Amino acid sequence: MATAAREFPYTHSDFEAVRGLLAEAAGIHLPDAKRDMVYSRLARRLRRLRVPDFASYLEHVRADTDGERREFLNALTTNLTAFFREGHHFEHVAQTVLPTLPRGEDTWRFWSAGCSTGEEAWSLAIALREALPAADYQRCRILATDIDSSVVERGAAGVYTEERVAGLDAHRLRRHFLRGRGRQAGKVRVRPELTDIVRFRQLNLMDAWPFRRRFHAVFCRNVVIYFDRDTQRELFDRLAEAIEPGGWLYIGHSETLWTVSERFAPEGRTVYRRLS
Ligand SMILES: C[S@@+](CC[C@H](N)C(=O)[O-])C[C@H]1O[C@@H](n2cnc3c(N)ncnc32)[C@H](O)[C@@H]1O
Repeated sequence: MATAAREFPYTHSDFEAVRGLLAEAAGIHLPDAKRDMVYSRLARRLRRLRVPDFASYLEHVRADTDGERREFLNALTTNLTAFFREGHHFEHVAQTVLPTLPRGEDTWRFWSAGCSTGEEAWSLAIALREALPAADYQRCRILATDIDSSVVERGAAGVYTEERVAGLDAHRLRRHFLRGRGRQAGKVRVRPELTDIVRFRQLNLMDAWPFRRRFHAVFCRNVVIYFDRDTQRELFDRLAEAIEPGGWLYIGHSETLWTVSERFAPEGRTVYRRLS
């Protein structure tokens, strides 16, 4: 878009300032190609707050007197996701990971880190429910977290349009979702058997993590694509600490731990296992 046609003035240094603040707050380094996206997503906030330009807006974000820092982060995250995205990971959990989990009374702990609107966590719950006898399913716990509070709320609601679940086969749909009626027509909701084992929380991966216990498997997929190398290194180091020795890590199809972390052994396509 030509600058002249814009509602708010937007210079390269405005873009740089946004980029700097986002990197500092969330570890996300936006490439130049995202310049127009930044404008269109933040122009809505400037309009809503009736501030005249980006510099005043960023002051407002920094001061954070009315929660604008959260709105800023929510506006700039990319939340693309889908049920059973990279479906081989869920098969891998069912076939390879479950037999490695400790027997006994303890819980089996999973983390969807960067869960967006929840499809990843619910897909995992579905895979566990289909693969496990009831007693083992009930000891599973899935924590789903994201920096973006609005997607976390949507994930926790567990309500999706029929379009979002169109790729699931009819048997899966019936078994794991309830169809909306009346005002909810055209929507589905995950069944209570799934909500029993999944919890959603807002969490910035750059902050301290409040976990008391390690996870048996972590999904951190399509999250670090815009993190720089150092941030990725630090994150995967912390993830290694948060995963049980011998526990599992799944990353996105365009991501790799090659030259990023030596704490994991590759176990197939974008699947890793924590070294002890
Ligand atoms: C492209 S989505 C991926 C969703 C899902 N993991 C998948 O693969 O389908 C990336 C998610 O990472 C989240 N994210 C980005 N930076 C984050 C951070 N510093 N802490 C927590 N979540 C973050 C975004 O808000 C977004 O919802």
